Amino acid sequence: MKSVKPVAPDRLSELLRRMPKAELHIHIEGSLEPELIFALARRNGVALPCASVEELRSAYAFTNLQSFLDIYYAGASVLLKEQDFYDMARAYFVKTAEDNVVHTELFFDPQTHTARGVSMETVVKGLHRACVDAKAELGVSASLIMCFLRHLPEEDAFETLEQAMPFCDLIVGVGLDSGEVGNPPEKFARVFARCRALGLHRVAHAGEEGPPGYIWTALDVLKVERIDHGVQSAKDPALMQRLARDRIPLTVCPLSNLKLCVFPDLARHNLGELLDAGLVATVNSDDPAYFGGYMNDNFTQTFAALGLNAQHAYTLARNSFEASFVDESAKRLHLDRLNECFETFR
Ligand code: HPA
Ligand code: ZN
Repeated sequence: MKSVKPVAPDRLSELLRRMPKAELHIHIEGSLEPELIFALARRNGVALPCASVEELRSAYAFTNLQSFLDIYYAGASVLLKEQDFYDMARAYFVKTAEDNVVHTELFFDPQTHTARGVSMETVVKGLHRACVDAKAELGVSASLIMCFLRHLPEEDAFETLEQAMPFCDLIVGVGLDSGEVGNPPEKFARVFARCRALGLHRVAHAGEEGPPGYIWTALDVLKVERIDHGVQSAKDPALMQRLARDRIPLTVCPLSNLKLCVFPDLARHNLGELLDAGLVATVNSDDPAYFGGYMNDNFTQTFAALGLNAQHAYTLARNSFEASFVDESAKRLHLDRLNECFETFR
């Protein structure tokens, strides 16, 4: 790993903002800001349980993952038309481009929409069109990762995969999200094997609230290439060694962990510990509209709380490109730009 010149503490947040980076853990439905929820509800004639943006925002006080998911799925109910999916993703791309995110891999939850009668085609086409425009107009490359909801049966995941088959070339991979505890990765062994045979990349949420054992089975049974969250791995030294040895990336989401009470405060987050153990950790926003920050907020607040430095910043940005599903030539270009940023930063 390249060694980086020290940067004065009062300049570090500027470096964090300015450095090019990739975001690999963002649920696009979790980027839906209250203002857009209300605008789409009005446009589509959907009734909301809250009277105002302020009232909705004041409900964003979570105690754990499930308390968040209940509100998050309700918020997604305003999404009906292809243009709604486009507008949601577009708003995210504009925000993330301001944070110097140059590549992003978006999670989406089709079952949240198909269960309400919205077709897979509507969802995928709206999101894909926003990805194409983001590249052309904002210089942000983007791809789509379709997530299966783990609180539902594996048969439903198979049906979802079937519905997605006509759009397979618009999806780079599959993921696993929603309520973790009680829904271990191995519940989805067969559908992930099928996705692997189809040549799709594979990731899974594991070790957000769930035990290290779920990270082991995500790796060994689902054969995932990245672990989403994975912060509970610090409880299992043998797992830490495995993750470091095989360079399995973790897509860590510090403000999400704070808001869902995975850590009592940001100063107690284990990101520094994961990096010190040589793990390929990355920083991501998860559900920025709900957790109080996009990428640069996650970086600046976490660095301040943990006392991380410019070397950590470089490692995290580099990890984000290494862990991405872009091809080797695109990775090289991203790393060249990252090196240039650090070499010219004053
Ligand atoms: N964990 C699990 N499922 C999710 C999350 C998360 O952090 N965000 C949206 N769906
Ligand atoms: Zn997530």
